[in-house]
Amino acid sequence: MFTLAERIKQLPPYLFKEIDQKKKEIAAKGVDIIDLGIGDPDLPTPPHIIEAMVQAVQEPANHHYPSYSGMEGFKMAIAKWYEERFSVTLDPESEVIALIGAKEGIANFSLAFLNPGDCALIPSPAYPVYNSGTHFAGGRPYVLPLYKENNFFPDLASIPEEIAHTAKILWLNYPNNPTAAVADRHFFEEVVTFAQNYKIMICHDLTYSEIAFDGYKPMSLLEIKGARDIGIEFHSLSKTFNMTGWRIGFAVGSSKAIEGLGAMKSNIDSGIFQAIQVAGVEALRAVEESRSAIQKIYTRRRDILVKGLRECGFTVNPPKATFYLWVPVPDSYTSVDLTKRFLEEAGVVVTPGNGFGDPGDGYIRLALTKDEDSLKEAIERIKNIGI
Ligand SMILES: Cc1ncc(COP(=O)(O)O)c(C=O)c1O
Repeated sequence: MFTLAERIKQLPPYLFKEIDQKKKEIAAKGVDIIDLGIGDPDLPTPPHIIEAMVQAVQEPANHHYPSYSGMEGFKMAIAKWYEERFSVTLDPESEVIALIGAKEGIANFSLAFLNPGDCALIPSPAYPVYNSGTHFAGGRPYVLPLYKENNFFPDLASIPEEIAHTAKILWLNYPNNPTAAVADRHFFEEVVTFAQNYKIMICHDLTYSEIAFDGYKPMSLLEIKGARDIGIEFHSLSKTFNMTGWRIGFAVGSSKAIEGLGAMKSNIDSGIFQAIQVAGVEALRAVEESRSAIQKIYTRRRDILVKGLRECGFTVNPPKATFYLWVPVPDSYTSVDLTKRFLEEAGVVVTPGNGFGDPGDGYIRLALTKDEDSLKEAIERIKNIGI
């Protein structure tokens, strides 16, 4: 009776679900696992954000259906932050929409804009939802491999003319998960020119905008002239404010893109609990505090893990942003072989690069989402098994 729809059957298995299963099996054997696999911060949400939520929960006005596109106060806080952070002026009513996390908006965007057979340009390796959203909409993904030789940027010049002319959406994500690559103004200018030439919408995922090190400050696509007419940018409160469980994010950009996404969403969800949006306003009021606190912590963790992995024989460069290390595996291993060895022999969970797409094979991804002692312990265990 419950025969799955083809759209589900044809999906590749969700990477983290598989790893979770394996992890459970190993943990059941009594192994104390150190999980560097998933990008879920170990740190708690800052107390002032929790306090704002506690107050808002008690307010009966917040117990009703929220507005579909987000509370006025939340959208205004987003516009204010964009102005201060990126010098980009947004109209909170038409150029901002609240999301139940960036993931929801990313998936729904394809449903809002792709007809069956429409082409979407999707980087690989990448956050899997650009691909699954395209797939659910019946779209046709065209893979843009991200290779080290290209500094993990897509080679736009290599896209065949007939593909570029028919593509409707280009997905991008810098600072990048999983490669930790960062993009500069020159790259975004090239992207905007390309998208203008071929009339392609740019969807930029800026989830990691505030997780950056050594003075580096990621930029917004919307800073580029002309980008706001053809672009939309997705954000998350999950990483910057340790709020993965709260489910809140937002998108900003072209009013047409925001309107279309909103039309899709209003038929699927009914907005975000207002108390969570009030907490979101408080989070955005004090971005600097949260940012400098987590930057210090992740910088120390990054340095511990980079040093330790080098001592184990890996070649690894310290990333300028994101809380991931994208580490080439030695020639004698595939990504999956090494991941298995780490898990089975050292109780350390990392993610095989090909889980983010075939061009990610030959790499593993480690998340800096565990405390310093756990990272040191993980290094010791890896040293003990050797590579
Ligand atoms: C690149 C990227 N985009 C989006 C998300 C999802 O963020 P959210 O928790 O807001 O749904 C993640 C989470 O890992 C991510 O890495």
